[in-house]
Amino acid sequence: MSRILTFNIFRYNPEDPGTPPRMDRIMLDETDRMTLFIALNRIREEQDPSLMFDFCCRAGICGACGMVINGRPGLACHTKTKDLPDTITLMPLPAFKLVGDLSVDTGTWFREMYQKVESWVHTSKEFDPTALEERMDNGLAEEIYELERCIECGCCVAACGTALMRPDFLGAAGLNRIARFIMDPRDERTDKEYFEIVGNDQGIFGCMGLLGCEDVCPKGLPLQDQLGMLRRKMAFTALKSLVGKHKHK
Ligand code: SF4
Ligand code: SF4
Ligand code: FES
Repeated sequence: MSRILTFNIFRYNPEDPGTPPRMDRIMLDETDRMTLFIALNRIREEQDPSLMFDFCCRAGICGACGMVINGRPGLACHTKTKDLPDTITLMPLPAFKLVGDLSVDTGTWFREMYQKVESWVHTSKEFDPTALEERMDNGLAEEIYELERCIECGCCVAACGTALMRPDFLGAAGLNRIARFIMDPRDERTDKEYFEIVGNDQGIFGCMGLLGCEDVCPKGLPLQDQLGMLRRKMAFTALKSLVGKHKHK
């Protein structure tokens, strides 16, 4: 027999500040292979056309549908209701600007983060459109590709205690991004230049290392390894610069 699900859904429209935030209780019959994407669309079509939430690809690729599902950040399109209890509480991802109800603006956060980490390959080589592609070791290309799989869903940021306390924290997504460029032999930035970006409390030294980020990442990115690598590398750079200063005294 199919279940009747109870949804508790956060409602608030920042464009209508006179109406305070509330939780709406909505009942819905569960169908076979129902995902939260299907459930929310049915709620919008059958019960409340004003409900705001984001979806694009429905396939865990675009990263638009991140939300807090029974207390845990995750992708709504990849979450099957059969894996959840009868009562499902949906909240918007914290740490991002609320657009309305379950919809948040992750784009602004990611754009600012990309600017801070200068998210492009820094090279002094002139671009020559006629030149052959530079070769890269296959294994290394795969390692870089692994980190490029981030879909910018924001789940790791929403699960991170530091990111919730400090809006300027780069978050696991930002630290992962820097790790990707450190790995890339075409990027000519020096250890000191990387240190200036991540060797501080907005970067790796603000990370508490409890790995809420890796636990919730829907793409299974190896965030723990990147955070460990950055911590070791930045501590070593700091030490090297201290020893250097000492020698010059
Ligand atoms: S390990 Fe670091 S980046 Fe990940 S959730 Fe904890 S504080 Fe945030
Ligand atoms: S690292 Fe994972 S959880 Fe974080 S934004 Fe990328 S895909 Fe989402
Ligand atoms: S709708 Fe694209 S990841 Fe869920």
